[in-house]
Formats: sequence, structure tokens, C-alpha cells
Amino acid sequence: MRIGVLTGGGDCPGLNAVIRAIVRKGERVYGDEVVGFLDAWDGVLQRRTMPLTVESMRGTLPRGGTVLGTRRGSPFDFEDGVEQVRATMSDLGIDGIVVIGGNGSLTVASKLFTDHGIPVVGVPKTIDNDIEGTDLTFGFTTAVQIATDAIDRLHTTAESHDRVMVVEVMGREAGWIATHAGLAGGATVVLVPEHPFDIDEVCDRISRRHERGRYASIVVVAEGAEPAPGTIEVGPAEIDRYGHKVHGGIGQLIADEIGRRTGFETRPVLLGHVQRGGTPTAFDRVLSTRFGLAAIDAAHQGAWGQMVVVRGEAIATAPLTVAVGKTRQVPISLYQEASVFFA
Ligand code: F6P
Repeated sequence: MRIGVLTGGGDCPGLNAVIRAIVRKGERVYGDEVVGFLDAWDGVLQRRTMPLTVESMRGTLPRGGTVLGTRRGSPFDFEDGVEQVRATMSDLGIDGIVVIGGNGSLTVASKLFTDHGIPVVGVPKTIDNDIEGTDLTFGFTTAVQIATDAIDRLHTTAESHDRVMVVEVMGREAGWIATHAGLAGGATVVLVPEHPFDIDEVCDRISRRHERGRYASIVVVAEGAEPAPGTIEVGPAEIDRYGHKVHGGIGQLIADEIGRRTGFETRPVLLGHVQRGGTPTAFDRVLSTRFGLAAIDAAHQGAWGQMVVVRGEAIATAPLTVAVGKTRQVPISLYQEASVFFA
């Protein structure tokens, strides 16, 4: 077979490991030719490709980012986008495309298959871990480790100065990184999009802790966390050209409020894209590799319209439609478990 591969949406540690596994099994086991499309769907529409071989993928397993480049955007942004995809596939002799992407890219892939019969297989990726249908996405444990390392470092400076540190982590609609990094890093408060927060309650918790003789606190906040209605006033969120709310700033807002209301010295820390960069954890390398192997198997089984998923220890497939329009959020039970450690 001749298989196309693209990476879409925000990058994530482990993308190269997926591509490498697709190429390895494709070339060595199935005798495939694998073609990489550059910069996601742009590469398909503009026929910008690179050959992917075992040789060219050598050394990429521990490398963050994606050798293919990535973009947001989709063929549906253009009137004749779907026809262009079809034409590229036919002219380049591509039998099917493996789409490695997050919620947006998987939704596009699902629509291309369901409404237009384009043969695609999905591989779910995002550091946010918020894709429905799979227990985990690769990149997540790397992001959690990076955030935890940062929190560990913040503890010592916070303790030296008797300060409150407010660490803003990624997570637009789900607080997976915040909850896991908060637990792993011993945070005093964790705020997630799933549960609007009351700033008075946050300040009370920190004040009670200080009354007990602990003068440093770490607050971890997911970028998509929101104040409960009627608590702090925030203006309407800006929306980007892909329809996503523009986040970044809730950490600063909370730090300002804590400082003002409690009088404790408070500093905001925005971790941002540091969480998405660099080498994947061993766990993410293994998960990415297993996803890549399963994706090329799925293509050979003609399992178009499916995505690879992990359930417990097992790698399986699920229809792409399972992920469309949904966000897998942190269950209340996990948040409650974690909250035993909050001040
Ligand atoms: O990949 C998901 C994500 O990391 C979100 O948590 C974050 O809001 C967003 O990407 C940032 O995207 P961009 O790279 O476009 O700023």
C-alpha cells in the first residue's frame, strides 16, 4: 500500500514516535511506501510531501515536535477542499491517510470519511488528554511531568519567601494536567474547568493553611478554569479563527485576587508551551509506538473511519465519530480523591 501520514493541530511529544512506528511496520512488515504530508492538510491540498522511510526516521523516537510540521485548519476551509484531497490521493496513488491529531483534526477526519468516503485512520494526540473514546492520549504524561518538575522547583522559592505561587497549566476544557500535576506536586489548591471556583473559598483555604503555620502555597489552575457566576467578574473571552476561546490570563487574575484579598505575597507562573516541548517520557514513547503500529494495522485491515485507542493495557480501535464534538473531562471521583490533599 501507499499510505499518507499527517500531523494536525497543536504539536505534542510523541508525534515522531507514532510516525516512526507506522513507517517501521509499514515498510518492514507490509512492504508499504509511506508518504508524509507537510504542515497537516496544507500539505495535502498543496501536494507538499516528504518520503518517510526507516532510514529517514532514524533518531526521531526521543525528539519532541513533528518532523512533518503541523497546522490548524482543514480542507473544509475551502470550497473545493474535499475534491483537492481526493485528487491528491488519486494522483499520488495514496490508498489512505493516517491523521494524527486532536479533537479538531479527528473531527475533520471523521467528516471526510463519513460524508465523503475518504479512507482515513485516526490517531488521537493531545497533551490535554481530553479525547473521548480512549483512556489516554500520548503527550499527556510528558506534560504532567514537566508541570510537576516546575511545581517542585516553585515549592522551594515559595517557601523561602513565604509566597503563594499560582501555576497556570494547559487544559482548555478539561483539567487533566492540573489535577495530575497538582496531585504529583503537592498543590494546596487545584482549579479545573469542570468545577467553577469561588475565589473566597480559595483564599479561605490558603489563609487557614497559613494559620496552621505553613506560609507557602501552590495553586495549580488549568487555563480554562472559570470563576463561579457572581464571584469575580471576567470579560467575554476572545475567540480565535478556529472557534477556540483564547485562554491565558486566569493565573494572573487569580494571583492578583489572592494577593489583594489575603495580603499574602503572590506570584503567577504561566507554564505555557513549555508543557508541549521537548522529549516524550518513556511512557509516551511506548504509547505512541503502540498507536503507530495499530494505525498501520488498521489501514491494512481496511478499518477506515476508525481511530486507535487504549483501554486499560489494550490497544483497540473505535469509530472516529466517538470523539466528535465531545470532550473527555476529569471525573468528579478523581477530583474528589485529589481534594483530600487540598488545604
Ligand atoms: O494542544 C492543546 C493545547 O495545548 C491547549 O491546551 C492549548 O490551549 C492550546 O493547545 C494552545 O494552542 P496554540 O499552540 O495554538 O497556542
